[in-house]
Amino acid sequence: MCGISGVVGLKDVSQLLFEGIRNLEYRGYDSCGVALMNKTRLIIKKDIGGVEEFYRKHDVLQQKSNIGIAHTRWATHGKVTQENTHPFTSRDGNFAVVHNGIISNYRPLRDQLKKEGYKFTSDTDTEVIAHLLEKFFKKSRNPEKALVKTLNLIEGTFALAFICTYLPGHIFCAKRESPLMLGIGDEIKFVGSDFNAFIDHTKNAVILDDGEYAILSRDSYVVKSILNEEEITKPITKIEWDSETSKKGGYPHYMLKEIYEQPQTISNALDLEPSGLDDVVKMFEKAESSYFLGVGTTFYVAKYAQYIFSELAQKFIAPISSDEFLSLANVNKKTLVFAMSQSGETFDTLSALKYSQSKGAKTAAVVNVMGSSIARMVDKVVLQGSGPEICVISTKAALSQMVVLTLLAMKLGLKKKVITKKAYQENLKSLKELPAIIQGVLNERSGFIHRIANKYCKNKNWLYLGRGIYYPIALESALKMKEVAYVHAEGMPAGFLKHGTLAMIDDDISSIVFVPPKAKKDLYESTIHSIEEIRARSGFVLGIHFTEQGKNQDLFSEELILPNVPPLIAPLIQLVIGQLFAYFTATSLKRNVDKPRSLAKSVTVG
Ligand code: G6P
Repeated sequence: MCGISGVVGLKDVSQLLFEGIRNLEYRGYDSCGVALMNKTRLIIKKDIGGVEEFYRKHDVLQQKSNIGIAHTRWATHGKVTQENTHPFTSRDGNFAVVHNGIISNYRPLRDQLKKEGYKFTSDTDTEVIAHLLEKFFKKSRNPEKALVKTLNLIEGTFALAFICTYLPGHIFCAKRESPLMLGIGDEIKFVGSDFNAFIDHTKNAVILDDGEYAILSRDSYVVKSILNEEEITKPITKIEWDSETSKKGGYPHYMLKEIYEQPQTISNALDLEPSGLDDVVKMFEKAESSYFLGVGTTFYVAKYAQYIFSELAQKFIAPISSDEFLSLANVNKKTLVFAMSQSGETFDTLSALKYSQSKGAKTAAVVNVMGSSIARMVDKVVLQGSGPEICVISTKAALSQMVVLTLLAMKLGLKKKVITKKAYQENLKSLKELPAIIQGVLNERSGFIHRIANKYCKNKNWLYLGRGIYYPIALESALKMKEVAYVHAEGMPAGFLKHGTLAMIDDDISSIVFVPPKAKKDLYESTIHSIEEIRARSGFVLGIHFTEQGKNQDLFSEELILPNVPPLIAPLIQLVIGQLFAYFTATSLKRNVDKPRSLAKSVTVG
């Protein structure tokens, strides 16, 4: 949610800033802007719209400067207008600020500043920072002191950066709860919301912790504590991701590229260091009560985890959506809270984890982004190794997390003697087949899904139905449809249908049903009953099922037949179909696939 990029170097940095915020656009893309320095004068350019359009329209590359900060916005306070776009300048025009997060006490601060004669040009919370910097600078004549004063006054969350005419070769930045990191190169320094801001230029990063600020110049950097202004020695983190893996690589959209990367990311998950997983299993064994935690897609990963833990380890663990956690969970020293997060920065999940830790609970997480806040705060992290996920819609990260959770459930089941060694080995074998089967499905079924999606893309309402572990698959597939195609899609347990929603079945509502393999006899039969209930009311049913059931024209209005696979991995393969169906519906409707309206990949506000 919002991307910050800053560079100070020897030569002109406008191109580097352009690349920085373009690579961060998945965090927000309502509007963007830059602040550059012409000798000792600030140049501010900003506008609504995407980064490329903005740079072209405002000829930003023509502006020469060896220092600058840039921002790409996902609106929280104030509409998407040029006035509300970052950077913001102080009244005297000597400070330019970009900010990510929410200043919760900005209203009283703004009222006070107004009384003192400061004029506000935007509706944002950020603008108070620029004016406070000017105000405190006047007293101390020192930008660092002005920063510390400001930071001690503002409440809420922030990752912020500013440049000022008084020290024109320096970038000042600070962090509380919103991610921020430094990129350390020779004669060049970067600041960014994440690695993507500078990964093409340096792999050496310094990850700021809450309550820290930093001052960067071309040749040096220093990190200090906001509390006592004392210097902090920070380790350099080597970024393992390759910048090439962040690029589109010939695919029309990151979403499709990332769906196609799944055979690889699942293999990566299966190759994770076993001892790391074993440590988490021990935590589950030790805990008297446990919760799964996630939000959005990761809440559905948590729901999947609930089913797989119940099935393979006979352990009931409640999944809670992170935003509801405080109202629902009862945590104490004997509780384990296990979170799922792609970004590792989601505010709701972070808050729930912090709350749990404050009650003495143990925490663990599966996270994709190394060095992220969640990865660093939990007692035990499993880094899933799926590589950068750029599309706002999560695909490969979620599926890989489900694989990690399946492995954990198997390991716990084995330890608890719920499953035998033989069953464990068979399950492992099935999981190992998953990458090749998904590859086959992608190669052989994409064309068909594309045609079906194209044919039905005008359908306005979809019910996504599944029973048992297919229910979270239905939920997650429906979420994909809503997020990327803006088509109404409601995930529901197939058995729940007859308890109300069946009344809705008519020509305006279509159903997509995730049918388990016949080997899961009870689940299979009860799912077929639900389909019959819809068909008896002449409802449209797209059935996703496995070859052994054979073609069944009467049962389905349309059907997508998958190869016969081991039941353990069947739901995971069906999820790939849900992803592709949403993707091709979105492309048929000409949606902005990688950057759907109103969404941001990393929601770092509550
Ligand atoms: C946002 C995104 C969702 C994502 C959720 C959790 O709402 O738009 O796509 O599922 O955050 O994100 P996380 O990074 O914690 O998995």
